[in-house]
Amino acid sequence: MKGTATPIGSIGVTLQGNGHAMFGYVLAKKFWGRGMAAEVLTYLVDWALAQPSLYRACAYCDVENLASARVMEKAGMVREGILRRWHVAPTLGPEPRDCIVCAKVR
Ligand SMILES: CC(C)(COP(=O)(O)OP(=O)(O)OC[C@H]1O[C@@H](n2cnc3c(N)ncnc32)[C@H](O)[C@@H]1OP(=O)(O)O)[C@@H](O)C(=O)NCCC(=O)NCCS
Repeated sequence: MKGTATPIGSIGVTLQGNGHAMFGYVLAKKFWGRGMAAEVLTYLVDWALAQPSLYRACAYCDVENLASARVMEKAGMVREGILRRWHVAPTLGPEPRDCIVCAKVR
């Protein structure tokens, strides 16, 4: 958090080749609902697309994670569709679940 050394969450980017950057993020629950995830994702998406070698910034979330889908949209990403049976979320069960994929490109 600004002005402190206390970690409150994490955001990561995987450079996948072919000019793609894939983001993932998590925020401590007590900090939800303050716009922080969207703020940091917006900053890093814009940073990524300012790099000469990157053309696509994307992320995905579980189909039921509407807050995360909204975070992606607030970061300027466009919803592209559903990745069916894409991701196993151990907290939700052992089977791969459908995910919403969003991206911003240049
Ligand atoms: C998803 C997560 C990162 C959101 O963090 P956050 O800082 O609360 O997000 P923001 O405040 O930037 O934005 C949340 C948006 O979702 C909206 N929202 C929240 N719950 C919602 C729901 N159930 N349905 C629809 N929209 C919802 C909020 O209203 C807000 O949109 P708005 O600003 O237009 O009102 C946080 O909840 C989290 O870490 N969750 C657990 C891990 C996770 O799901 N990570 C993402 C995996 S892809």
